Amino acid sequence: MKSVYMVGVINIVVLLYMTFWVRPTLNPFSPKNAKRLGLDPPLNLPKLMRQFILNKTSNGEIYATLNGLSCPKGGEDIQVVIVVPSAPFRDTARMAVRRTWGRIAARNDVSIYFLIGKTSNSTLRENIEAERYTYGDILIGNFTDTYNNLTLKSISMLRWVKEYCPRAKYLLKCDDDVFLNAPRLLKLLSQLKIKRRAIYGRVFNNRKPMRDNTTKHFVPYEEYKFTVYPHFVNGPAYIIPVPLVEELYNSCLRHKIVRLEDMFLTGIVATNLNIRRLHVEAFQNGLLSLPCFIQRSICIHRVRERMLFEYWQQIFDRNKKCKYYLVFH
Ligand SMILES: *[C@@H]1O[C@H](CO)[C@@H](O)[C@H](O)[C@H]1NC(C)=O
Ligand SMILES: *[C@@H]1O[C@H](CO)[C@@H](O)[C@H](O)[C@H]1NC(C)=O
Ligand SMILES: *[C@@H]1O[C@H](CO)[C@@H](O)[C@H](O)[C@H]1NC(C)=O
Ligand SMILES: *[C@@H]1O[C@H](CO)[C@@H](O)[C@H](O)[C@H]1NC(C)=O
Ligand SMILES: *[C@@H]1O[C@H](CO)[C@@H](O)[C@H](O)[C@H]1NC(C)=O
Repeated sequence: MKSVYMVGVINIVVLLYMTFWVRPTLNPFSPKNAKRLGLDPPLNLPKLMRQFILNKTSNGEIYATLNGLSCPKGGEDIQVVIVVPSAPFRDTARMAVRRTWGRIAARNDVSIYFLIGKTSNSTLRENIEAERYTYGDILIGNFTDTYNNLTLKSISMLRWVKEYCPRAKYLLKCDDDVFLNAPRLLKLLSQLKIKRRAIYGRVFNNRKPMRDNTTKHFVPYEEYKFTVYPHFVNGPAYIIPVPLVEELYNSCLRHKIVRLEDMFLTGIVATNLNIRRLHVEAFQNGLLSLPCFIQRSICIHRVRERMLFEYWQQIFDRNKKCKYYLVFH
């Protein structure tokens, strides 16, 4: 009896912590410092380099937008537009999202779109065309869909929101291997201030570039020359207030691209615009084995398709263990 009571108390404490603790991060990379550290490359990039980069980013345009692919009324009634970057071959992942947390798009104030780049594989192209025809929720960017082009994908996302969904309140970028506790997301959004210049998610402080050229995340000095990254929000899921989108987009076009899309957009670019990165503990990176973890989280990264279904059921399941939580009210 006593231990049940203790579990309850601990759970409530953790819940309160995860719900309300949106902490500002220290920012040694103030715009002044950023300039000193050379985080504002447009000022000192060689002309040719700058041109190359501009050419590169100008390809981050969405070349196809079909009927129904702009937000209704430019997003006027939309609380959150969720853009899910996805690779051409990830059709079953997209399907799993549509059938689980993507169901939240049945609400009038939520929209979900998948963002895919181009592929030379004609089978995949045909499949995507069919998928697009059926669900009307696919955006296609004007770039080849590769790991190296993920930053272009994020820039495309901004461009699309700026042009087709400018009146929505929030943009959530959420990968297709993320479980989203959609009801809790809505709860969090209702607590945020739209005018705040901030990007929300799991903040990484003082991370260092991977200089080992045998790893997938290798970053050569040519791409990023400093020993530490500015604070940034981890890529699988982050929230951007839509009023900041145009500014971010324009600024992206003036920066040298780094392939780590999260560090580029929410680190370098946001720092230069004096946009804060606010840490939300409920944006989770991996599975903890605490009881009721899923109910408390807003998103959990690296969740297999099969588990998306299980989790989606679980958040509505008021089993005994979680009775101390008020799940989302
Ligand atoms: C950028 O594109 C223009 C044409 O759009 C081209 O003339 C120029 O050579 C390109 N610059 C680089 C560095 O690729
Ligand atoms: C797509 O990108 C190509 C270059 O890769 C460019 O020639 C073309 O104009 C772009 N299309 C649109 C609609 O922006
Ligand atoms: C095209 O994609 C399909 C489905 O993923 C795959 O089975 C096929 O091998 C691919 N074809 C080529 C030429 O890569
Ligand atoms: C995308 O990535 C591929 C290979 O990583 C590269 O060849 C291509 O130029 C990149 N950019 C665009 C705009 O497709
Ligand atoms: C990786 O780095 C080592 C040492 O810096 C160098 O000798 C090697 O050629 C590099 N390999 C590649 C594929 O760039």
